[in-house]
Amino acid sequence: MAKIAFLGLGQMGTPMATRLLEAGHALTVWNRTPDRAKPLASRGATVAGSPAEAGAGAAFAITMLATPQALTDVVLGEHGLVRALGPGQVYIDMSTVGPHTIRLIAARFPKGVAVVDAPVRGSISQAAEGRLEIFVGAGDEDFTRVRPILESLGSVGHVGGPGAGAAMKLIANLALGVSIAAVGESLALGEALGLGRAPLLNMLEGSQLGPVVRAKRADIESGHYPPTFKLRHADKDLRLVMEAATAANRDLKVSAAAKVWLDAGVERGAADLDYSAVVATIVGEEPKS
Ligand SMILES: NC(=O)c1ccc[n+]([C@@H]2O[C@H](COP(=O)([O-])OP(=O)(O)OC[C@H]3O[C@@H](n4cnc5c(N)ncnc54)[C@H](OP(=O)(O)O)[C@@H]3O)[C@@H](O)[C@H]2O)c1
Repeated sequence: MAKIAFLGLGQMGTPMATRLLEAGHALTVWNRTPDRAKPLASRGATVAGSPAEAGAGAAFAITMLATPQALTDVVLGEHGLVRALGPGQVYIDMSTVGPHTIRLIAARFPKGVAVVDAPVRGSISQAAEGRLEIFVGAGDEDFTRVRPILESLGSVGHVGGPGAGAAMKLIANLALGVSIAAVGESLALGEALGLGRAPLLNMLEGSQLGPVVRAKRADIESGHYPPTFKLRHADKDLRLVMEAATAANRDLKVSAAAKVWLDAGVERGAADLDYSAVVATIVGEEPKS
C-alpha cells in the first residue's frame, strides 16, 4: 500500500479520498477549509496544515480542485506542493483544468517528479462507488506507476501523453454543456408550441439527448436542482473549451452558444446549483436548491 497525499476535499475529492483510505493506503489530506477534512480524519487520515506538508514524503500526491486558479494556488503558492515534491515522487491532478494549466504546472516541478493528468467523468455517486471514468495523460512508464492507485477510483484509460487526459476531459464537458443547453431549448420551444413537459421529456428520452434527459429528468420535473456537478464548474469548463478553441484556431459556434446559456444561469444566481439548472434559466423558471 502507498503513502498518498490528497488535496481538495470538495464534493468529488471527499468520496475519492475516502475510497483510497478504504483501499488501505496511508492517506494524508489537506483542504483550504480545514473543517472539510474532519470526516476523513475520523476515519484515520492524517490532516496536513499546508499543501507542502501534505506532499512531504508521499509517494503519490493527488489534487482535486475547483479551477485552474485554485490548482495554481495549491501547487505553486507559498506553501505549495511544488516545494515538497522531488525525484521519485508522483504528482497526479484529477481536476478539470484543461491541458494549458497542466503544462504550466508540470514545467514548475523539479526534474524527476512524474506529473500525470487524470481528470474524471462521473459524479459524486460514481466517485463513492469507484466507478469514475478516468482519462489519463502520461508517458507509458508513468501510466504503469499510477494505474494501480487510480484503479481504486474507477476505470482507467490511457488516452495519450502528458496533457491528453486534460484535453479529453474538456471534450467530454463540451458534449455535456452543449447537450444540457439543447435540452433546455427543446423544452422552451416545445412548451411554447403547446406541448406538455412530460410528453416532451418522454420523446427526448428516446432522442440523441436521451442520457442527459434520463439523468436530469427528476430535477427538471421537480424544479429542484441540488448540486452534484455545480453550474459554476460546467460554466468554467465551457470557458476552458472556448480558450482552447481560440488557441487551436477552431471556430466552435455551438459551444459558444451553450456557454452563453451557462453564463446566464450563473448570472441569475444558479452557480451553486446543479449544472442542469440552466434548463430552468432557458425555460424562464426560477431554479430551487
Ligand atoms: N462534481 C462533479 O460531478 C465533477 C465531475 C467531474 C469533474 N469535476 C471537476 O472536479 C473538480 C472538483 O469538483 P467538485 O465538484 O469536487 O468541486 P467543489 O465541491 O466545488 O470543491 C472544490 C474544491 O476546490 C477547493 N478550492 C477552491 N478554490 C480554492 C483555492 N483558491 N485554493 C485552494 N482550494 C480551493 C475547495 O476548497 P474549499 O472546501 O476550501 O472551498 C474544494 O476542496 C472541478 O474541477 C470539477 O470541474 C466535478
